[in-house]
Amino acid sequence: MPYRRRVRSLLSLLLQVIVAASATASSLYNRSSNCTRLLPDAEIVRNAFLHVGNFPLPRRSACHPVRRLRFPSSNLTGVLRWEELANLSSLLTLDLSGNSLQRDIHAAFWRAPSLRAVDVSGNRLGGALRFEPSARLSSLDVSGNRFISVDGVDMLAALENLDLSGNTVAAVPEGLLRLTRIRRLDLSGNMMAGLFPDDFPPLDGIDFLNISHNRFSGKVDAHTVRKFGLSAFSQAGNASLFIEETEPAPAPIPPTSGRKKHRRGVLIVVVVCTVVAVAALVIFAGCVACGFRRRKKDKDGKTVSWAEEEVVVGAVKVAATAPVVVLERPLMDLTLADLAAATSGFGRDSQLGDVGGRSGAAYRAVLPGDLDVVVRVVEGGVSGVEEDDDAAATAAGFRELARLRHPNILPLLGYCIAGKEKLLLYEYMEKGDLHRWLHELPTGSMVDAQETSIDMSDVKEDSQSVCDWPTRHRMILGIARGLAFLHQGWAGSGRPIVHGHLVPTNILLGDDLEPRISDFMHHVGGGNETPESDVYNFGILVFELVTGQSKWDEATVAWARGVIRNKKGENIVDAMLREVDAGAARQEVKREAAECLQVGFLCTAPSQQKRPTMQQVVGVLKDIRPAPAD
Ligand SMILES: *[C@@H]1O[C@H](CO)[C@@H](O)[C@H](O)[C@H]1NC(C)=O
Ligand SMILES: *[C@@H]1O[C@H](CO)[C@@H](O)[C@H](O)[C@H]1NC(C)=O
Ligand SMILES: *[C@@H]1O[C@H](CO)[C@@H](O)[C@H](O)[C@H]1NC(C)=O
Ligand SMILES: *[C@@H]1O[C@H](CO)[C@@H](O)[C@H](O)[C@H]1NC(C)=O
Ligand SMILES: *[C@@H]1O[C@H](CO)[C@@H](O)[C@H](O)[C@H]1NC(C)=O
Ligand SMILES: *[C@@H]1O[C@H](CO)[C@@H](O)[C@H](O)[C@H]1NC(C)=O
Repeated sequence: MPYRRRVRSLLSLLLQVIVAASATASSLYNRSSNCTRLLPDAEIVRNAFLHVGNFPLPRRSACHPVRRLRFPSSNLTGVLRWEELANLSSLLTLDLSGNSLQRDIHAAFWRAPSLRAVDVSGNRLGGALRFEPSARLSSLDVSGNRFISVDGVDMLAALENLDLSGNTVAAVPEGLLRLTRIRRLDLSGNMMAGLFPDDFPPLDGIDFLNISHNRFSGKVDAHTVRKFGLSAFSQAGNASLFIEETEPAPAPIPPTSGRKKHRRGVLIVVVVCTVVAVAALVIFAGCVACGFRRRKKDKDGKTVSWAEEEVVVGAVKVAATAPVVVLERPLMDLTLADLAAATSGFGRDSQLGDVGGRSGAAYRAVLPGDLDVVVRVVEGGVSGVEEDDDAAATAAGFRELARLRHPNILPLLGYCIAGKEKLLLYEYMEKGDLHRWLHELPTGSMVDAQETSIDMSDVKEDSQSVCDWPTRHRMILGIARGLAFLHQGWAGSGRPIVHGHLVPTNILLGDDLEPRISDFMHHVGGGNETPESDVYNFGILVFELVTGQSKWDEATVAWARGVIRNKKGENIVDAMLREVDAGAARQEVKREAAECLQVGFLCTAPSQQKRPTMQQVVGVLKDIRPAPAD
């Protein structure tokens, strides 16, 4: 019967598949018995746990790298050879909580390169807890042990969760305040002496904190108590630790009885307000949606090709014949159509990521004659150029702007005025901006050429220079010089040019890593920006370059100022800078960096009048680190 035959052939096919599969499996297995020599992870584990009682030693060598070691509450006793575990290159998590392991943790253990989470809580570990740099460890729980001191905690730069509770640690870990990524911090139940909050990372970033049952001194304000709860501070220190009432305590909720009528009135008002607000929101949302749809239509409805008479810049159509003026090459005959062609019609592919952030979109274009430029669409006014100036006045303003030449200012190369649209041409800076250099390049040992296909030699060089204090100082000084130049104003005019938005993404880096200030887009003297507010923002840049921390706001500035005021500036100097080879050089770096922090302190003075001028800042910075004679 054909039907039965088909079933039979199907069955035999299935059988073949199974046989093939099992063959694959056993060949895998055979291969696995061979790979012990390639991946000796099981051997490492065996060695590490050799003297640990009750450890289920692996009977067979496994082929796979060991990623997790989880033996919670497994009655483990004895002494673990921690340094062996450092050779487990794939080890991500280690959970040995609730056992009876003894002695200390060998510092070499923290070298395990992939380590993310370690939980050894509830053991009998003790002695000094010493760390070595671990770039990825984000969670560490050593609670309920017998550690007496903690050393080098700031080498765990990625740490987000730290639980040291229930040990006998006598002093707050040095460097704790540099763990700015920390979210969860439990130090309760130790004997820690230290200053609160001076010895702590910014409290704003912390979601959970417990310092109860210690010997801290300092002040806890009402806001902090509300955030973390009173029990987080119970018996946290001696009498000088007190609850500082900065605001009146919230009034107790009044009893409902006598005030019912009044409360009902309030309730009605609240309900009415809510209804009105919701209605307004719905209308607003409707408008936004309509606007959005209309915008979308503008963009998608007509696909104007840039070969035609008009090009679309942003959402505006402009004449493709508008001339592009390249100031230093007057003979270059370019039109907007050429710019459009070089940017695939101002397409997304050539758009640069959020460069500067303030002004309009920016595109990279390589123009005839190998002119590598950034084309920036201007939104609003530009220094010396009002938004509604006519074309001639605008062109004059741009020419004026282009005359601002200084090694630390990104020069304007050219412009294009097409109806209401204005485009500016700047030199393209291959090294990117300060933010990228400082925070986004892979650091030293983490450079892995195999993971990426791009040429890593340049990147490597740049990421090494990040660790170099003279380079960072040169950048600080360069930015100061550029800003001082802007504040002088156009020759003799006496009107300072205010930058108004001095942030790391607006500092571009030349091939020689010389900083170039870009995006000074505000009206001269207009808005709330003043030279003094530029000085303040410069102060923050100094903090960022010296500490290596990003994302500064009022709170973190206040924190840094507090640390510097207490003469502890050296403690917040970027760890990468402090790793230089030792001895005299390291002392020099620390001293110079701390002096630069002082400059940042002066620049961020709350009172505008107390801030120095950029001219003065340049002088001080030059004194801190005299230029090498050449
Ligand atoms: C795996 O090894 C065993 C002996 O070690 C052998 O009998 C078997 O045929 C091997 N399997 C394969 C697929 O090589
Ligand atoms: C495993 O090792 C044996 C000798 O030890 C060798 O003959 C065999 O080819 C190896 N198998 C594989 C899959 O490498
Ligand atoms: C733990 O280990 C000890 C010996 O090391 C043994 O006497 C005891 O029974 C073990 N307990 C459990 C729960 O396995
Ligand atoms: C770790 O591996 C390195 C090189 O493979 C070796 O020299 C070292 O002895 C190993 N360390 C331990 C503790 O096994
Ligand atoms: C802080 O720790 C103490 C002692 O371990 C505990 O009693 C208290 O509830 C904890 N508080 C918070 C907010 O976790
Ligand atoms: C609290 O302790 C700190 C040092 O541990 C000390 O300087 C301070 O005087 C003490 N305050 C009181 C009120 O005892």
